[in-house]
Amino acid sequence: MTTNIKKVSNGNEMQTLSNSHIKNGKTISFVPTMGALHKGHLSLVQRACELADITVVSIFVNPTQFAPSEDFEKYTRDIEGDIEKLSEFDVNYIFCPEINGIYPEGFQTFVEVDKLQKPLCGASREGHFKGVATIVLKLLNIVKPSFAIFGEKDYQQLKIIQRMVLDLDLDVKIIGLPIFREPSGLAMSSRNQYLSQNEKKRASFIYKSLTKIKDDFSAGCADVKELVNNAKTFLSEAKINDIEYLEIRDPESLALKSVASKEDIAVIAVKINKTRLIDNIKF
Ligand code: PAF
Repeated sequence: MTTNIKKVSNGNEMQTLSNSHIKNGKTISFVPTMGALHKGHLSLVQRACELADITVVSIFVNPTQFAPSEDFEKYTRDIEGDIEKLSEFDVNYIFCPEINGIYPEGFQTFVEVDKLQKPLCGASREGHFKGVATIVLKLLNIVKPSFAIFGEKDYQQLKIIQRMVLDLDLDVKIIGLPIFREPSGLAMSSRNQYLSQNEKKRASFIYKSLTKIKDDFSAGCADVKELVNNAKTFLSEAKINDIEYLEIRDPESLALKSVASKEDIAVIAVKINKTRLIDNIKF
């Protein structure tokens, strides 16, 4: 397929291109990704194209957000397939830097969003959000967008990035877009590719357990212990027992709740075989 998208792999070149667009009065929207693009990513790209004159999508599997035991090596890389998917949209640039372009010899500066990075995914994935915040800050400095778009599936990530932008006075609007789901309800994720058909079927109960929590809350149960225990029983009937967390939290501070209220969010991380999946639902 022919495409007008320009592929840029050098950070200085990307920054120069962005600077010249900004000088010419253009706005830039940006979708940072690690590639292996699915419909969820593409919904972010679609929105990005509507928002600004120039759209940049980055594809970079960021090593600093993976612990040594995680799937950095195994993570799907399909740059040609990704470019083909992006060619359906008005994307101007795909920025796919090399690792040593982003982290040159001697690299030693990291960003940490102190409190928000600790619970939930941060508790089991040590250093993960330090890696995420650092790469996102670097990418924002290179691409210089007015808008940067993220999926709400990675809800804690979104909150951390919003906080970083606020705390460090970054001149960019962070936009979170709703989770894109398979017809079964399973949240779209690049890691769904690791699942067999049977595992995918089981994984669809993750979202069902969240809707159960929401339904039980709407039916009048506000006791978090009860809401969570009932959802865990439901998951165990679907043979999902490897639950890393299933909690109800304040949507901004991510503080744990004991009595649920209608602004809250239920968040979950489970493992299906070796694949770690996350999801969430707002009340
Ligand atoms: O959500 C992701 O794909 C990644 O964490 C991100 C934001 C691109 C940073 O590497």
